Amino acid sequence: MNYNILLDSEETQKIMLKYNLALDLLETQLNMLIKEFEFKNKYNPVEHIKSRLKSEKSAIEKLKRKGYELSINNLNLHIHDMIGVRIVCSFISDVYDIVKIIKNSKQFKIKSEKDYIENPKDTGYISYHMIVLVPIYFDDNIEYVEAEIQIRTVAMDFWASLDHKIQYKFPKNIPKEVKEELFNCSLVIQALDKKMYELNQNVRNYD
Ligand code: GTP
Ligand code: MG
Repeated sequence: MNYNILLDSEETQKIMLKYNLALDLLETQLNMLIKEFEFKNKYNPVEHIKSRLKSEKSAIEKLKRKGYELSINNLNLHIHDMIGVRIVCSFISDVYDIVKIIKNSKQFKIKSEKDYIENPKDTGYISYHMIVLVPIYFDDNIEYVEAEIQIRTVAMDFWASLDHKIQYKFPKNIPKEVKEELFNCSLVIQALDKKMYELNQNVRNYD
């Protein structure tokens, strides 16, 4: 298959432009929502935000990995994380506050959500995922562009980053004992997040 067909086409360039516009808009809107929350509550629940646009090359690799033919249509249908935004919060309660803010905002539509905090993945992965639709104006039309938002605590982010690095060392199959250790580390992270949340609640009573 000639993958350059997808890379070079004008249609691909147009789609990448739309993703770029939608990412800019999403970042701005999220920042506004968080600033508004901070103003009202005198508290900033966010440690940091990271965004990225999946490269065309990574998108092609993902389509290949999932066994789909390479086409713009399949890119639209099967790649939901061309735009990725990660919101890293302090406490678990902050994660759910951010989820609420996004759900209540009229700016985007929520396409789907997965609560891997309530239901961690078998790997031990914990985070809150949302696929949102970002409306952009293009060619005098409103178009909805998908974006994946991952919301997690610093502790969850720490686990996910190191898990990713370790998993990367085993492109085929991760040894059973490594998998189990990673899962156990996730349990420690979950307990730590719970403890930090409780500590923070208790500290509030000191004021
Ligand atoms: P994709 O086809 O990869 O998008 O899977 P999906 O549609 O089932 O999405 P899901 O929401 O389950 O997870 C997608 C993203 O979550 C990945 O790209 C990672 O960033 C993150 N993720 C999911 N599972 C794990 C995991 O076990 N470890 C780490 N480190 N990250 C994970
Ligand atoms: Mg995904």
